[in-house]
Amino acid sequence: MATSSAAPETRNPATPLARNKNLRKWVEKMAQLTQPDNIYWVDGSQEEWDMLCDQMVVSGTFTRLNQDLWPGCFYARSDKDDVARVEDRTYICSLSKDAAGPTNNWVNPFEMRRKLKGLFSGCMRGRTMYVLPYSMGPIDSPMAQIGVQLTDSPYVVVNMRIMARIGMPVYAEIDKDVKRVVPCVHSVGAPLAAGDTDVTWPCNKEKYIVHFPETREIWSYGSGYGGNALLGKKCFALRIASNIARDEGWLAEHMLILGVENPEGEKTYVAAAFPSACGKTNFAMLIPPDGFDGWKVWTIGDDIAWIKPDETGQLRAINPEAGFFGVAPGTSMKTNPNAMAALSRNTIFTNVALTPEGGVWWEGMTDSPPDHCTDWQGNPWTPSIAKVKGTKAAHPNSRFTAPASQCPTIDPAWESPHGVPISAIIFGGRRATTMPLVFQAFNWSSGVYTGATMGSETTAAAAGAVGKVRRDPMAMLPFCGYHMGDYFRHWLKVQRLLSETPRVFHVNWFRKDADGNFLWPGFRENMRVLKWIVDRAKGRAAGRETPIGWVPRYEDIEWKGLDFPVEIFDQLQEVDRAAWKLEVIGHEELFIELHDHLPPEIVYERELLICRL
Ligand code: GTP
Ligand code: SPV
Ligand code: MN
Repeated sequence: MATSSAAPETRNPATPLARNKNLRKWVEKMAQLTQPDNIYWVDGSQEEWDMLCDQMVVSGTFTRLNQDLWPGCFYARSDKDDVARVEDRTYICSLSKDAAGPTNNWVNPFEMRRKLKGLFSGCMRGRTMYVLPYSMGPIDSPMAQIGVQLTDSPYVVVNMRIMARIGMPVYAEIDKDVKRVVPCVHSVGAPLAAGDTDVTWPCNKEKYIVHFPETREIWSYGSGYGGNALLGKKCFALRIASNIARDEGWLAEHMLILGVENPEGEKTYVAAAFPSACGKTNFAMLIPPDGFDGWKVWTIGDDIAWIKPDETGQLRAINPEAGFFGVAPGTSMKTNPNAMAALSRNTIFTNVALTPEGGVWWEGMTDSPPDHCTDWQGNPWTPSIAKVKGTKAAHPNSRFTAPASQCPTIDPAWESPHGVPISAIIFGGRRATTMPLVFQAFNWSSGVYTGATMGSETTAAAAGAVGKVRRDPMAMLPFCGYHMGDYFRHWLKVQRLLSETPRVFHVNWFRKDADGNFLWPGFRENMRVLKWIVDRAKGRAAGRETPIGWVPRYEDIEWKGLDFPVEIFDQLQEVDRAAWKLEVIGHEELFIELHDHLPPEIVYERELLICRL
């Protein structure tokens, strides 16, 4: 293996790697507060990754997987109570409660700072504080933003090395002193006294995921898992960035980005917002089904999009991330071979099952389960134990952390500093009833209404009940860092910056029949819907008007390679007026909460919809 010269082995890791005085002073101040045994400035090198991974293998946090089967891969098991984002412990501490809005937990920032000071006092005792500089977005992109995360978790450092651009080039960027740096402080909240032995997944029962939108700061305490701890992701790239985007006239969204290439070589990029665990990663890596010779889908991102109007009024998007933090269960060679290729090496697996060969397994990975393995809690698991006790081998929110560059369909332009042009925006939820497979909103404001009123059944990506329909506007309910009503207003305002608005669509892969079976095969077959969407966006596909928007007729969909009954299609596309009247009443719930910030367009769109029904 080639060794990089970025990190001479002799360097003292406590010697600051950044020249920036403010950064150095802040690191010192935070060390005084949190009292770590050591400070380590992260350089981002391969040697450093090896060193940290080796260290975690020794401490027991990591298991090195069988390197013949899973080269460069490691396995981690979390604490059983630290397995997902904790929305009820997530706070937006703006100066006024009104600025955070009714959909966010708010605490007075002065009170919260006092609370945090107590929590963080001495919280890193016995541990190393890592200084982790990172860029969300390609470092040379004018759309990229910079953060520095202080963390006492080496697990977080190695995950962030996959998920973001980190280390030396980011220090260089900070030293230029052009971009504002977002300070992020993270602790698992488990200080060690002299003589204490550490656990493999330190965390604290009490968790606080805190954002100060005005000062653009993030403080996270008590969790080492996912979006609670990898602060570049939901905390920065969505909650803080949505505030920056509102101020600067762009959009920070919970969206995948993909490019559709047709046989003529024409490429069309779309962005799609589906709530957590509702199919973004799968859709972003779609492989066209039989009957789509010459078509290709390219992946730019699977979770977050930063979308900005360029000087010509065209929306352009970048993926601020560098990796995929994907849901493992259900990922297989059948459902998502691109994800399987991406996670085949240099990947960190968390809370999946461990096989006797030193490999990993999760529900849905293979047609038949292994005879026996060790489940995500470290207990023996067999298919018969599963049958009797109902235990899962992998936690439903178990995840892989894989480099985006390893995805076979990664778009050649995925790191383009100016992003890719967006022609369509797709909203979608997980809905057993009411919502058709696909419809197109009439225009931008009805599209914003469609996104604003999205509903979806809750999933295991967040702690709490699973399967309950809740309103999740633009899939941003847990991620919008300010008042949701102001967020809708911002979306509506963006239109004025555009020379041509992207077309807006709504999809639902999850409609069920009376027996509870999915009506739509989903996964690669979603290409048929995507083709109609692209053709509509390019103004060359027909459709039929309904009260909720434009829908394809059976003959408007490409069915080559799939024998799909017209009756089932009709069932999938049914716009049941009675159900829709109830749906619109459901919209009211959220709107009553938001009423004093709700833009008039949203109110009018609702009235129009009611009239059409
Ligand atoms: P986050 O990373 O939490 O934001 O999730 P995500 O939106 O990227 O969801 P992902 O693609 O990981 O899919 C979540 C679950 O939905 C998996 O169990 C998939 O198997 C399932 N899923 C994805 N696409 C489809 C589909 O078209 N049809 C059906 N029935 N299930 C799907
Ligand atoms: C989500 O929950 O939408 C995720 C996983 O993508 S996490 O990074 O934990 O937020
Ligand atoms: Mn997500």
